Amino acid sequence: APPTCIDNLPPEVLLHVFGYLDPYDLCQAAQTCKGWSRLSLEPQLWTHILPIQWAQGDWSRIDHRPEDSDVEDICDDDEDDEVSYMVIDDDADIDESCDFDTAEGYCPAVQQILHEAHLLKGLVKHVLPRVGTAVRSLILANSRALTNGLLDQMLQMCPNLEYLDITQTRISDAGLKSFGRSGSCCRLKRLVLSGCVNIGNATLVRLAIGLDDSGATTQHMVTTPPRCIRTGAENCCTMPQEETEEVFVEDDSDCLCLEYYRTYHKKLDKNCRDDCERQNTLHQAYEEHNGSDYSDSETEMSEFNLMHDNHNVTELALECAAVATDVALWATEYTATSGQVQGDMNTYTSHGSSGDHVTTVYADYDHAKRDESSEYTDEFYHSVEKLNIRDQHVALTSNYEGHRQRALEYLDLSGCFQVTDLGIRALAGCGSFPLLQHLDLSGCLKLSAGPLTDLVRVCPALIHHQLFYCDNIIDGPFADTASGCRNLQCRNRVCCRSGR
Ligand code: FES
Repeated sequence: APPTCIDNLPPEVLLHVFGYLDPYDLCQAAQTCKGWSRLSLEPQLWTHILPIQWAQGDWSRIDHRPEDSDVEDICDDDEDDEVSYMVIDDDADIDESCDFDTAEGYCPAVQQILHEAHLLKGLVKHVLPRVGTAVRSLILANSRALTNGLLDQMLQMCPNLEYLDITQTRISDAGLKSFGRSGSCCRLKRLVLSGCVNIGNATLVRLAIGLDDSGATTQHMVTTPPRCIRTGAENCCTMPQEETEEVFVEDDSDCLCLEYYRTYHKKLDKNCRDDCERQNTLHQAYEEHNGSDYSDSETEMSEFNLMHDNHNVTELALECAAVATDVALWATEYTATSGQVQGDMNTYTSHGSSGDHVTTVYADYDHAKRDESSEYTDEFYHSVEKLNIRDQHVALTSNYEGHRQRALEYLDLSGCFQVTDLGIRALAGCGSFPLLQHLDLSGCLKLSAGPLTDLVRVCPALIHHQLFYCDNIIDGPFADTASGCRNLQCRNRVCCRSGR
């Protein structure tokens, strides 16, 4: 009989066993042999990255902070710490042999910061290049060693992030510049920037661009051949002829996705007007910066912090050009699929299920064919009949991609006092946020009611009591039901009424 040895286990079994190891043990295992090194760095083992918690000795993959840290927790931050931050050199080599737990000559606070920096650099150098595409959540809250350079590298290596938390860090707009790259943040569901006082409008403009579904759709249209949603086959041009299974169609008129599609088609009907407005906002911003009277006003200059240097101006100009291209391509797509708009609309309106609208469209079609007295209108029936099947595949896939990309559910900008109406307008102008439920703008004391109302208008799922904004904004959205500013009692967050 073969000797009993752990190496005789099939890789998939070993991988399952490795799934029970924490990140520290995985790193230890990775140093034993090539086989274990490869297994330890299997992307599926690294979906949740919590380096700050790990640097404190808690190697769990679960975030152990309270679900929704309230103001008391925030105010408990030790603001009197002698060492708040240290300047970390991003490019310095990692001292692999350094044991920070026993390093002499450092006070505990400095040791902790160095330990964090060491761990963050190790992640960027050794782990994320191998597993970055699988990372779904990156929690860097309260880091004192995180720099713009490190965060930018992390974001570039983790294009599929769904949850990013950089609460109470020194990160500025430069650390989030990868947001502007097409598709780089389009899967984000939860973005927490609370307490990041260096973040301003540039991040919101980039977020608006990065979350843009039309850009993602265009990318999909250009780079991916049409793929049948039902079978997964490329260039599938045949509609399923017979449905053998009975189709159950749920009717859920309150479905948030349905609301999204209403907005989506409304947007198409206006011939991409929303996107043009957004493009105009960006151009306006660009013009304002280059305008002759820009340099006349110190205030404008500080508010307009997204363009504080020529590099940013050039970058924004490029973004404008990219948006213009996206809009043009999307308009072409619109023309090609215009006949389908009303049909799609009726379909989504009719069933609006919580799941895969696109897949069930075909089933609905056959369902309608079998039952002439069904609820589907003649208009839908005939428009589907007339459509070129391949175009339908492309359009529906695009709709699905667009829907999938707009996933933002939670946005926390509490204490980001540099954000102004410009940033909010950029967000409001980029299209709807069909799933956004929580929006915290506490401490954003430069905002006014108009842009805020515009933003709330494109967030149909927003829960009123999860909307927070400055108490001094008169006639703001949902004035009776929204929550006020959360920073009133907080010493560590900006608030116009607390004097900070
Ligand atoms: Fe105005 Fe807090 S920012 S009340």
